[in-house]
Amino acid sequence: MKVIHVVGARPNFMKVAPVLNALKNRRGVVQTLIHTGQHYDVNMSDVFFQQLGIPAPDLNLAVGSSTHAKQTAEIMTRLEPVVAERKPDIVLVYGDVNSTVATALVCAKMGLRVGHVEAGLRSFDRTMPEEINRLVTDQLADLLFTPSEDADENLRREGIAPEKIHRVGNVMIDSLVRLLPAARQCGGGSFPERYALVTLHRPSNVDDSESLREILNTLVKLRERIAILFPVHPRTRQRIAELGVELNSLHVLEPLPYVDFLALQSRAAVVITDSGGIQEETTYLGVPCITLRSNTERPVTVTLGTNVLVGRDQKKLTAEFARVLEGNAKRGSIPPLWDGHAGERIAEVISH
Ligand code: UD1
Repeated sequence: MKVIHVVGARPNFMKVAPVLNALKNRRGVVQTLIHTGQHYDVNMSDVFFQQLGIPAPDLNLAVGSSTHAKQTAEIMTRLEPVVAERKPDIVLVYGDVNSTVATALVCAKMGLRVGHVEAGLRSFDRTMPEEINRLVTDQLADLLFTPSEDADENLRREGIAPEKIHRVGNVMIDSLVRLLPAARQCGGGSFPERYALVTLHRPSNVDDSESLREILNTLVKLRERIAILFPVHPRTRQRIAELGVELNSLHVLEPLPYVDFLALQSRAAVVITDSGGIQEETTYLGVPCITLRSNTERPVTVTLGTNVLVGRDQKKLTAEFARVLEGNAKRGSIPPLWDGHAGERIAEVISH
């Protein structure tokens, strides 16, 4: 059986690693890994391949950054001849980035079987580019691998045949479980013992200068209570430079490698983020998470986990932050099937 995996952006890499590993030992499976090149900086891509033990991609389409339409179209144009030549039995796509939807479109039209890893998540907010990517990808996929019950429900409501849906658990947590011991060994760097860890890259927060300015001003105030470590996504770095806000009192860092970031997450007093994956990782780690969004496609992180949504409300952010520092953070539990074995369950379904 020939399997092609297509990945492109940072949050794809921790999801593909467990599936590649689980399929590696199956007899008769030949795997090809294609990187679209959506993310290309060493610290957004190569470093993740190294730390996660992912083999170098068989092919890099080197599409780079552009508008959504151009980036998606470029991935489609470059991918089509490659897939036509390799004639896979199944193509696996991951998460909700532009590389995911572009691949699903190309392969579905070629009559190829498509499997979507992390299917069924919905924020019900179509202003998010990822929500469009999720909706389209799930309609086109033949095998839908979901992390949680809510995802199954979303898919059934959208008319997806139940036999296509396979609840396998959270594949990103597989990577976390595998590398947490390495993260625990990792020295803390030259950072203070007690700190809040911040990440920010959602267009709705960082592309709107008023919103970004508000958030940054709040962070500078929160800094009076506790140190703030802020690894900055390239997209956000550009916007901050345009705004010219003074962030000297924060620890502003380059984007961090997977294990280093996991180490900081696991020791943080609190994480403030607008990322999807980090809401899940903090829930697994039992670390309080304050999410700067008004909705989430990962509701179990709120119902079962440690996540609290505060939207763009800076007063709510400050109040929640104070609650955590006073020792009254929400306690959570680990959702079912977030156990480090999701990749094996995916391999099992594919093999059959
Ligand atoms: C993409 C995903 C988002 C995911 C995020 C994780 C889509 C629609 N969005 O958003 O879901 O949460 O990745 O990081 O697919 N850039 C660099 N170097 C890089 C990559 C990007 O400098 O290696 C800069 C470029 O200026 C680029 C900007 O970051 O224009 C945004 O990159 P892009 O891939 O378009 O989207 P992300 O914001 O990274």
